[in-house]
Amino acid sequence: MKKSLILAMMALVMASCSAKDPKVLVTYFSASGTTKSLSQDLAAATGADLFEIEGAQPYTAEDVNLGNREARAFKEMADKSFRPELKESPKNLKSYDVVYIGFPIWGDAAPNIIYTFIEKNDLKGKTVIIFSTSGSSNLTNSFNKLKEQYPDLNLVEGTTLKRNPTPEARQAVIDKLKAAIPAK
Ligand SMILES: Cc1cc2nc3c(=O)[nH]c(=O)nc-3n(C[C@H](O)[C@H](O)[C@H](O)COP(=O)(O)O)c2cc1C
Repeated sequence: MKKSLILAMMALVMASCSAKDPKVLVTYFSASGTTKSLSQDLAAATGADLFEIEGAQPYTAEDVNLGNREARAFKEMADKSFRPELKESPKNLKSYDVVYIGFPIWGDAAPNIIYTFIEKNDLKGKTVIIFSTSGSSNLTNSFNKLKEQYPDLNLVEGTTLKRNPTPEARQAVIDKLKAAIPAK
């Protein structure tokens, strides 16, 4: 009895030593700041590192001018196979267990640069939690398009932050995204 109790206690101690927290990276693309601000708060809430996905050619306000159908964003949305170049990729991606990818929804899909990011970085074996900000669209269609394109990745549907949220709604998004991190 005494011996089995000691063995059980040793097993507990060993388990707690090996159960380390997963290493988390929040990556995001943001053309006008909304996804950036959410990503910063998410990284703070999860103790994650932060990486901004940027175009080699930066996105200007005119590039995302909704009043101009000739704007860069609309041209990119019209050519699903176009892959805008990245400014850079995250260092030490290998060391992360969980990678969030956040973006503004463009035309009910992830912007093309998110596809570039996924194709230029090795995310196999990691938990990849997808999230977004949007005017009113839900994440599901954008998520399903990614899932269809990259069936071998472990993509997890997070949620979207819709325009003009109450502080409670914003916090609920952060809480939901935080809860999506699997226990290691
Ligand atoms: C080109 C373009 C297309 C958009 N398409 C959608 C859309 O399909 N659904 C939606 O709800 N919002 C859409 N939006 C609104 C953005 O998703 C929303 O403003 C987002 O929060 C912007 O994020 P950012 O400031 O990080 O760039 C679109 C915005 C742009 C510029």
